[in-house]
Amino acid sequence: MKRTKVIDALQRTDYGSDITVMGWVRSKRGSKGIFFIALNDGSTIKNVQIVGDEANFSAEMLKQITTGACLSVDGKLVESPAAGQASEVQATRIEVLGTCGNDYPMQKKGQTFEYMRQHAHMRLRTNTFGAVMRIRHNMAMAIHTYFHEHGYFYFHTPLITASDAEGAGQMFQVTTKNLYDLKKNEEGHIIYDDDFFGKMTSLTVSGQLEGELGATALGAIYTFGPTFRAENSNTPRHLAEFWMIEPEVAFIDLDDLMDLEEDFIKYCVRWALNNCKDDLEFLNKMVDKGLIARLEGVLKEEFVRLDYTKGIEILQQAIKDGRKFEFPCNWGDDLASEHERFLVEEYFRKPVIMTHYPKKIKAFYMKIDEKNPVFDGREMEPTVQGTDVLFPQIGEIIGGSVREESYDKLMGEIEERNIPMKDMWWYLDTRRFGSCPHGGFGLGFERLILFVTGMQNIRDVIPFPRTPKNAEF
Ligand code: 4AD
Ligand code: MG
Repeated sequence: MKRTKVIDALQRTDYGSDITVMGWVRSKRGSKGIFFIALNDGSTIKNVQIVGDEANFSAEMLKQITTGACLSVDGKLVESPAAGQASEVQATRIEVLGTCGNDYPMQKKGQTFEYMRQHAHMRLRTNTFGAVMRIRHNMAMAIHTYFHEHGYFYFHTPLITASDAEGAGQMFQVTTKNLYDLKKNEEGHIIYDDDFFGKMTSLTVSGQLEGELGATALGAIYTFGPTFRAENSNTPRHLAEFWMIEPEVAFIDLDDLMDLEEDFIKYCVRWALNNCKDDLEFLNKMVDKGLIARLEGVLKEEFVRLDYTKGIEILQQAIKDGRKFEFPCNWGDDLASEHERFLVEEYFRKPVIMTHYPKKIKAFYMKIDEKNPVFDGREMEPTVQGTDVLFPQIGEIIGGSVREESYDKLMGEIEERNIPMKDMWWYLDTRRFGSCPHGGFGLGFERLILFVTGMQNIRDVIPFPRTPKNAEF
């Protein structure tokens, strides 16, 4: 099919040439026998204007040109007299490729995001979702480009796994067993010997453990794939199926890791500003008036590097000064998102990388600090070299750590936490055979997209969201 994409048509200046454009009708209006159609083909947020004299077209065909209909238009490219667009198409022939009934769910403007979620299969045709999806694509390209240019290898880790990397136990099971006729042993436990893999398996919550095997062989790798968490969190920040980017690098320490996190995120934000200008301007106007300023702000700021213990001190001081929080924040507690957002949005007003968390609130693989912190004059429990990157509007966008490279210390943690050893032998081999200092992090792709688009709900930055009680489309 010979066609010019709208994005290219709007840039052409060879006025008078023949042109064919195809796309979906955003709107149609008429005045004094002349019709104007705004046509969009998804290549850009911008529409191309189609102009024609009603007298030259069949009335029956013109009636079919309704919002959402799909057209193929032949005509002449002309300079547009209208403001805000260089060129338009003077139609000589219009073919309606697909009519669109008036029950088209994206008919009206100004529908709520909740309404659009219920029609998520069609919301991709709207300006907002078009912009978000183009930015999502661009962020994926930015990520691959960043790592490729920095010498990381794209490494594929399995989606089906027998280990629970984060130890959080929020996994979706994978089985071919007949659920109506489950065989159990004498203790009442399900027997998996006859299951597809001969053992209990689940969808992965993280590719990190296999990623560590890659990094301790190739030096630096990254994963970029879907991950699955059956946590029943109905929040605007959680999905049951989300995409994660997990770089893992040999021979780095905590400072190197934080440098990498900051450099990487800034690279992605800069990419968006440089490559997604039209879409960002649209979102800045329609969704979040502070968006572009916030993105530019992140590039200018140096991220704050904040010890967890110091963070608790700041929060407790704020409470003493009258700041109210819903959840407590004593030393040893996991920070709630309200605490993270206080530090980032009110106290520092810039991104924060928090480090040296209490061991007991973090995963088993994090490197244990040599010295215990002192808080309120007392020595506290051990901390680990974990890093969470906290962002305005989002909260935690990255979670990472330096990994415990000592076999004995790692074993100690595994035993203390009662992690089933028999599933972990292959991971422990990284510490038995040429163990090395290494670390990495996980970036939640949709949280990055939330930040870069200014959208408020994580369900609106992935084409087909999966959340508790929702697997439609
Ligand atoms: O902090 P998390 O759980 O870290 C890990 O999984 C490590 N294995 C990463 C690593 O060191 N290689 O998750 C990493 C990031 C979070 O910071 C958050 O951005 C995102 O993944 N994330 C989610 N995003 C959407 N929905 C959820 N349910 C998410 N859970 C985590
Ligand atoms: Mg985390």
